[in-house]
Amino acid sequence: MIKAVRGTRDLLPPETALWDFVEAEARYIFRAYNFHEIRTPIFEETQLFARSVGEETDIVSKEMFTWQDRGRAQSDQGQSLTLRPENTAGVVRAYIEHQLWKRGLNKLFYIGPQFRRERPQKGRYRQFYQIGAEALGPPSAGSESPTRDAEVIELLASLLERIGVAGWALELNSVGCAKDRPLFNEALRKALAPVVIKMCADCQRRAATNPLRVFDCKVPQDQPIIAQLPRISDFLDADCRVHFQQVEEILTAVGVPFTVNDRLVRGLDYYTRTAFEFTHTALGAQNAILGGGRYDGLSEALGGPSAPGIGFAIGEDRLVMSLSASADEVMPKPDVYVAPIGAGMDREAARLARELRRDALVVELGDETFRLKKSLSTASKLEAKFLLIVGEDEVKAEAFALKNLGTGEQVALARNELAKKIQSGT
Ligand code: HAM
Repeated sequence: MIKAVRGTRDLLPPETALWDFVEAEARYIFRAYNFHEIRTPIFEETQLFARSVGEETDIVSKEMFTWQDRGRAQSDQGQSLTLRPENTAGVVRAYIEHQLWKRGLNKLFYIGPQFRRERPQKGRYRQFYQIGAEALGPPSAGSESPTRDAEVIELLASLLERIGVAGWALELNSVGCAKDRPLFNEALRKALAPVVIKMCADCQRRAATNPLRVFDCKVPQDQPIIAQLPRISDFLDADCRVHFQQVEEILTAVGVPFTVNDRLVRGLDYYTRTAFEFTHTALGAQNAILGGGRYDGLSEALGGPSAPGIGFAIGEDRLVMSLSASADEVMPKPDVYVAPIGAGMDREAARLARELRRDALVVELGDETFRLKKSLSTASKLEAKFLLIVGEDEVKAEAFALKNLGTGEQVALARNELAKKIQSGT
């Protein structure tokens, strides 16, 4: 038997109803905040991720699904391509490629699959889904403003509230900017020099190439050393400090609770200033439900104009896991099961089903080879609210038997009375 590949999975009903539910609510919220949808390709040139997410990150150095494409000619090496491990890089590439700032398109959202070759476990997949958004634009449009940071974070709190996710916690930090980062890197290098020999091979490499990435280390023996390293909060320049303070003040004013965690650096290189994560207690080891932050230099790093931005990505798999609603509760049930009873009744039943669906009802159409008893039990299994009997007598009399499967009550109605009665639900 051929099975789904390790780390991938089929999403089946009724669970897909929960996915539909969160996506519909997310779209509603994005509309309220005037974000518009963008759909970027599932694969991109490898160097897009190397240059944005960063060569030294776990994502780029260990987790990407990369292959060498075939060129047109046989001798042609072809490009190196990668399944997108995240979507911020693709959005910024598209922003530059289509000069979206000229069209005033600077608040974009996306919903779709991402791919990382991580060790699969609960809440961690190789194909997973993100609901994300990016707000970026020219500095003249106010894209650097702390108002934008707070707005994006407040949007998330509103979305979680709307879909009924309780028990989340928001951690916030500032990771500084291009001006103060060299100072912090220098301090880190100095602090690491005498101890790095005791650390894992990855940290030894990171200490030389990109010391900030030492904070991504998960090796237990390295943690006491990491706990002693300098804190980024002590190296922020005056502008970054004020920016962060303003974000904190707005969030407090709008009533979004948070804690500052000055060890939060996030595992992607493009971040500047505000970085944040929402965690959820019910998720176990993989407790980050979403993450995001500011990336003021990313557009330039990809060859574009200055376009400071802030965004986030929700792990949709984890969001669905943290919902208190059950799949059964949100799974739509048929309003009516239309049961043709007897030979030749399928045509009449199909006509009625078509009419009722036009009236926005959810209709399951039965089969004329079923006897009444089988139609009844099928309708009950599907949890249909009503059973509509379409037999020869009913068609002749133009009076259809409609049975409420909850109460057992049965009435005879003309065809133009059916939809109203079913919509009433009683
Ligand atoms: P990230 O923290 O790498 O950020 O991913 C965001 C979220 O995606 C995580 O918090 C988690 O919920 C989910 N996630 C990541 N990897 C997996 C996995 N293997 N299985 C299941 N869920 C996963 C980014 O991707 C950034 N692009 C976010 C961003 C947007 N920053 C600015 N704009």
